[in-house]
Amino acid sequence: MPQTTPDMSEPADPQDHWYFRHEARTWAAAAQSRSARPFHRALPGYQPTPLVSLPGIAAECGVAAVLAKDESARMALPAFKILGASWAVFRAVNRYLGRDDTDVDLAGLRAAIPVDQELTLVTASDGNHGRAVARMAALLGIRARVHLPDGVTPEAVTAIRAEGAAVVEGPGIYDEMVRRAAASTVGVSTELLVQDTSWPGYEEVPGWIVQGYHTLFQEIDSQVADLGIGGVDLVAVPTGVGSLLQAAADHYRGASALRPRLLSVEPTSAACVAASLLADRPVTVDTARPTVMAGLNCGSVSALGWPSIRGGIDAAVGVSDAQAIDALRDLNDGAGLTVGPCGASALAGVRAALSRQDRRDQLGLTADAVVVLVSTEGFDANPHLTNGPDL
Ligand SMILES: Cc1ncc(COP(=O)(O)O)c(C=O)c1O
Repeated sequence: MPQTTPDMSEPADPQDHWYFRHEARTWAAAAQSRSARPFHRALPGYQPTPLVSLPGIAAECGVAAVLAKDESARMALPAFKILGASWAVFRAVNRYLGRDDTDVDLAGLRAAIPVDQELTLVTASDGNHGRAVARMAALLGIRARVHLPDGVTPEAVTAIRAEGAAVVEGPGIYDEMVRRAAASTVGVSTELLVQDTSWPGYEEVPGWIVQGYHTLFQEIDSQVADLGIGGVDLVAVPTGVGSLLQAAADHYRGASALRPRLLSVEPTSAACVAASLLADRPVTVDTARPTVMAGLNCGSVSALGWPSIRGGIDAAVGVSDAQAIDALRDLNDGAGLTVGPCGASALAGVRAALSRQDRRDQLGLTADAVVVLVSTEGFDANPHLTNGPDL
């Protein structure tokens, strides 16, 4: 186990939107009204995703342990997003049918949907959330329509269609697709918007999605305890609109016994959370430039997530495509994982943070630190993104 801080030859990018706030660790989240975990446990194919120890990466980073929460195969999908989509769809469809949802039984819900039901789930997505919503519609025997921005890979489009969903492709950036998807459902009583970001007046469904994401962090805590590890010092979270980050803040500043520092990681070209934290108010950034981290290419922070992010997130950093690809290669070729660029961004962000002594000091990370990377996406989600000639 290395005892000293390594001298990493690649200096961090000075334009990487570094943010740090010391007081975040003592912020207290509101208690969660309900847990989605019993629902997830009852889903066919559910099991906790692995928490994988990466000793080589830990040695390189000068910490005791780096653990990757590997979301490359979550209920047979290559990303974590089904955790949120499943719970939100379950609650929203029950609500639509006027059913009580205390009995967390998906088959029971499917059986309760009338055969002549015209119900359609509608969403906008960079790929993974759309596929998860489409999968839920298929499981319930109802329809789905997914609005996709420019930059979503052909493989991701095909995968969403293969779930049986109708696809509306751009043109436009993610924020514009969110507006279009929402507008398309106004006044249509048979269409349910299942969006994983929130704005004033649209909070309930995104809140359920965030509730669903808590399962991921609850699993991490159980797995850390099973490994006999006493504490976690840093959790790195790939961030788009910040709903997953909100779940991290609410969990680790709420029910969890662990009190790690929390690091948000975004593409430098779509760093709306870092920009908002630095400005101390929600800021929209232009996301017209494509990134290999397609699932993180979002320009605005979720309104529902902002108070928790502002209160409970310690640090934020932006990473370049090249940094994400380096991390992807090291995780896949070196450590035997099969992560995609969004998943790998967590390691790229940790490297950008830990390669500088001033940032290590801010985060209070010493040689005995334990770091968790939330590796949100498998390689299969967007295989061709990383095959370009210039990468
Ligand atoms: C693979 C992946 N990782 C991370 C995220 C970020 O989640 P959020 O948009 O809630 O910040 C997304 C969002 O779609 C994603 O697809």
